[in-house]
Amino acid sequence: MELLLMGPPGAGKGTQAEVLTEKFNIPHISTGDMFRAAVKEGTELGKKAKECMDKGQLVPDEVTIGIVKERLSKDDCKKGFLLDGFPRTVEQADALTKILEELKLPNIRVLNINVPKEELVERAVGRRICKGCGKTYHLKFNPPKKENVCDACGKELYQRADDTAETMNERIGVYEASTKPLIEYYKKMGVYEEVDGKLSIEKVSEALIGLLS
Ligand code: AP5
Ligand code: MG
Ligand code: ZN
Repeated sequence: MELLLMGPPGAGKGTQAEVLTEKFNIPHISTGDMFRAAVKEGTELGKKAKECMDKGQLVPDEVTIGIVKERLSKDDCKKGFLLDGFPRTVEQADALTKILEELKLPNIRVLNINVPKEELVERAVGRRICKGCGKTYHLKFNPPKKENVCDACGKELYQRADDTAETMNERIGVYEASTKPLIEYYKKMGVYEEVDGKLSIEKVSEALIGLLS
């Protein structure tokens, strides 16, 4: 099962990816998570990525395409995968089409989580993430049982550096200019499906699983 989860910043891609990758037992490939790991490790890639991410801008295509190509070539992707946050430009989408041809994986399905612009800033600004296991919470929509502590592993929660209202407005602008056109791109390819992302986390999961079952 080769899945591509699309949607604006804060739409719920990571949250739903947790559910789908567990249910279908496929690896979760998030370019944002890969860049944040590189930032943490202080690698050259991390330094380059941090500059763009802090401003809410995209990391250059050639860098991003390179790391995705390498990741998709690993053995664990042979049984399928879920891409979260890639592609984000037409150039990335063209590169992905080529990579999937080379890997002989013709059955990609594109699932878009549709959320109106007005709801995105609140979702991102209230987001908290576990330092230990990476689980995502929300102060209002999905709070942990104990304040600032992960239900799953007991570690502390943190806030992403780019989850401010200001950076979110930039990220939403970048999404509308560079990524939204991919909806038409995948509609033309006949592989596009969408779910209503305004619903609760559980309802969105049900809708996605319904499409895939
Ligand atoms: P990335 O990490 O991919 O960020 P993003 O696309 O902006 O998306 P988010 O991770 O912010 O949101 P999400 O949709 O995963 O939402 P989540 O499930 O967490 O990218 C970060 C940066 O990296 C980019 O800005 C760019 O610089 C760089 N980058 C990454 N990929 C790149 C690429 N391909 N090319 C170039 N640059 C790239 O949910 C958000 C919050 O809402 C959570 O708190 C959650 O609990 C809550 N929530 C989720 N669903 C619901 C719901 N149904 N109802 C209520 N609350 C909900
Ligand atoms: Mg995410
Ligand atoms: Zn945790």
